Amino acid sequence: MNPQMPPKLSLPGVQQVIAVASGKGGVGKSTVAANLAMALHMQGYHVGLMDADIYGPSVPIMFGLGTVDSKTTPFPIEKYGIRLMSMGFLVPPEAAVIWRGPKVAQAVQSFLSQIDWGQLDYLIIDLPPGTGDAQLTLSQSAPLTGAVIVTTPGEVSLIDARKGVKMFREVRVPILGIVENMSYFVDAAGHKTPIFGVGGGQKLASESDVPFLGELPIDPRVAECGDSGEPIVRKYPDSPVAQAYMTLSQTVAAAANRSSAAALPEVQL
Ligand SMILES: Nc1ncnc2c1ncn2[C@@H]1O[C@H](COP(=O)(O)OP(=O)(O)OP(=O)(O)O)[C@@H](O)[C@H]1O
Ligand SMILES: [Mg+2]
Repeated sequence: MNPQMPPKLSLPGVQQVIAVASGKGGVGKSTVAANLAMALHMQGYHVGLMDADIYGPSVPIMFGLGTVDSKTTPFPIEKYGIRLMSMGFLVPPEAAVIWRGPKVAQAVQSFLSQIDWGQLDYLIIDLPPGTGDAQLTLSQSAPLTGAVIVTTPGEVSLIDARKGVKMFREVRVPILGIVENMSYFVDAAGHKTPIFGVGGGQKLASESDVPFLGELPIDPRVAECGDSGEPIVRKYPDSPVAQAYMTLSQTVAAAANRSSAAALPEVQL
């Protein structure tokens, strides 16, 4: 084993650990992670959501929470039935964390090793943008079932998403597939209009030889819900976006189950 490689941590009570990633910022990773977690919970699973974005945590805002007294508050914090952990519970957003790489890596590792996540069917991890320290440490030290790569339909986002695919390949984390966010706008009559291009997610999936997991519509209510602390899947369960998330969550769960079954050692009888 490479001596620089951190040892894999074990999370004995957690069945599947899924990282939500992308090379590019602002494509909707945190939104996808939060709504995926919510959609899985609404189908009866026990779900945790870990915010690995140490410099720019978004989980507290998306769940209507802020900093807490870490001496008296047990982590993870539960909201809407989901167990949450984020740097944003410890440090207010305006106090920029100026830690360097090793400390960021330490924070990410302590979220995994020092927090009692309990029994979970799915632990979803929201990764920061890019392919830097936090992403690498996590990919190497967390017992990841696999990664979901988020992209938007346009070419610029694809260039960075390709880097994300490459990084997970290099650290041998299975890629569960590609999710395309902000694919189209659905008007009142139900017509779909693409805004940022067409087919980018499909293209990346086929050139990388990984599954295409689905498309998510653009809806201004997604941002409204994110800012007001209640994921759209919970607040507007009948919206096209929420329905797309319910389907996506089943596709992701099936891909994760396949991936972890494939990783099981063969038993000789
Ligand atoms: N399908 C969507 N329709 C409309 N707005 C969306 C959609 N998905 C995400 N957004 C909005 O886009 C913005 C960026 O989303 P988000 O913060 O989830 O991206 P991110 O990839 O996590 O960003 P970062 O790289 O900074 O971590 C947010 O305001 C979010 O509410
Ligand atoms: Mg984010």
